[in-house]
Order: sequence, then structure tokens, then C-alpha cells
Amino acid sequence: MSSDKSVVKEMTISDVDFNRMVKFIQGNYGIDLHAKRQLIQSRLGNVLKRKGYTSFEQYVDFLLKDGSGDDINELLNKLTTNYTYFQRETDSFDYFVKRILPDIERKHQADKTLSIWSAACSSGEEPYNVTMYMMDYFGAHWKEWDARMLATDLSVDVLGKAQQGIYQLPDNMPEEWKKNYFKPSGTRHQISQKVKDNVIFRQFNLMDEIKFKRKFDVIFCRNVMIYFDMPTKTALINRLYDATVPGGYLIISLSENLPPDTRWKRLTSAIFQK
Ligand SMILES: C[S@@+](CC[C@H](N)C(=O)[O-])C[C@H]1O[C@@H](n2cnc3c(N)ncnc32)[C@H](O)[C@@H]1O
Repeated sequence: MSSDKSVVKEMTISDVDFNRMVKFIQGNYGIDLHAKRQLIQSRLGNVLKRKGYTSFEQYVDFLLKDGSGDDINELLNKLTTNYTYFQRETDSFDYFVKRILPDIERKHQADKTLSIWSAACSSGEEPYNVTMYMMDYFGAHWKEWDARMLATDLSVDVLGKAQQGIYQLPDNMPEEWKKNYFKPSGTRHQISQKVKDNVIFRQFNLMDEIKFKRKFDVIFCRNVMIYFDMPTKTALINRLYDATVPGGYLIISLSENLPPDTRWKRLTSAIFQK
């Protein structure tokens, strides 16, 4: 009992180390951990112990020197919230199907190529879901289109889950979709190959310069900016603007907002146009 207490004490983070870590994470990954001291201590205490660190000071020293690699990946996996689910904010998907897809379909009649990015895709539900909506929309014409989606996230853990594609489906997943786009895997469901093949997963830090070859017709950037402070958010929104074709769309979450002086034109509370 007393030795347990001493371990907990050893793993308490000092003000100095807490501030060093918060600054490092915010500067490199945009995630604001100012209010997350308890989370850092509770989620990282065991990691430190397992890796043989005896204090947060040692660990933060190493992180700041190492700057990349496995330790950073593990840290980010522990501190980010990857919560996501299919059919999230269906109003936005309705708008996507009724207004956005007809618009971009018309614009791309000649090249039949759509460019769509799920910019913080977590375990893959969002880009797979978007693909299902597109497959339904195009129906028999789907094969004529190249609508492969880019799906990125900072966390390699969630990208691994996305690539595995095995899910507990929510009750509101239409039966027709369960049949068409999944196959049963025990008590869960595996995403079908045709949906999987439409999504290209990559690790990407939203703090980085966006250098993808093509500009996007639609960017889904939902439930990630909530972790960023205002300057980080403003800079990201501007980079997303520059990475979009004229007339292209940005879809955020209903619980988020864009800065008031944005160049994006508001269409609904979660959907914007360049
Ligand atoms: C709550 S999930 C959102 C998933 C999905 N977009 C949705 O709305 O359901 C937030 C995701 O943002 C990712 N993330 C956090 N900071 C990031 C960054 N700097 N660059 C890229 N992804 C980041 C996390 O790893 C996490 O998977």
C-alpha cells in the first residue's frame, strides 16, 4: 500500500514540466492541454513506469530532445480523444447528398474525379460513411467516377483501426447499408472491400503545411478544432481554404465554429463554401 503511494507521488508532474509539455504539444500538434493536467498524470503515469522513466522531468527532457518517433506517437495516442461514430450529425450528410454532391457532380462531368478529404478521420467511420453516401448517390454510375477519399489523422493507432475496419454498428445504421457495405465479423461488422478500397489512409498533422497534389472539392474537418486554441484554429482554417478548389466546401461539426472574420462563406451552421 505504502509503495503504491510512493509510485503515484513520483509520477506527479511539476509546474515547470507541465508547462514545458503543454508548450511542446501545442506548438507541434495544436492540441491545447492547459486544462488537462490530471489527464496527463493519469494517462501517462503508467507509460512512464513501463518505459523505465523515474520522473516526468526525465520524460519531458527526452521528448523535447527526441522530437519525433515512437514516444511522441504513444504520447499523442494517450492524450487525444478519438471518439467518433457512424451517422454522426446526419444533417450534414443530408446536405452533402442533397446539395453538395449534385454541385460537384455537375462541375466534374468531364473528368469524373472528385477530391474529398476527411482531415481528422480517427478510426475511419467518417470517411467510410462518406463513401457509403457517395456510392448510394451515384448508384449504377459509381464505377464511372473516381471519388477516392483521402483520410488522415495524427494518431497511428486509430489509423491502424481504420485500416482494420471492424466496427460495432450503431442502431441507426440502415439495414440496407449493413447488407451492402459490411460483412458480419463475430458480433461486429467488417467494412466491405469495395468501401475500403475507396479510402486512402495517411498520417498527417494538421499543424503542417498542406502539400497534397490536388485541391479538394470537399473537406470534412469535424471535431478536431475543439482541441485547438484560436490562433491555431484560424491558421488551420486558412490553410484549408487554400487547399480547396474555388466553390469547394468545408464541413465542420455542429459543436464548432469558425472565427468571425473568415473568408469561408457560411451555408449552414456547420457547412461553408469557398
Ligand atoms: C474526436 S476525433 C474526430 C473524428 C471524426 N472527424 C468525427 O468527427 O467523428 C478527433 C481526431 O483528431 C485527431 N487529431 C488531434 N490533433 C490532430 C492534429 N494536430 N492533426 C491531425 N489529427 C489530429 C485525433 O487523433 C482524433 O482522432
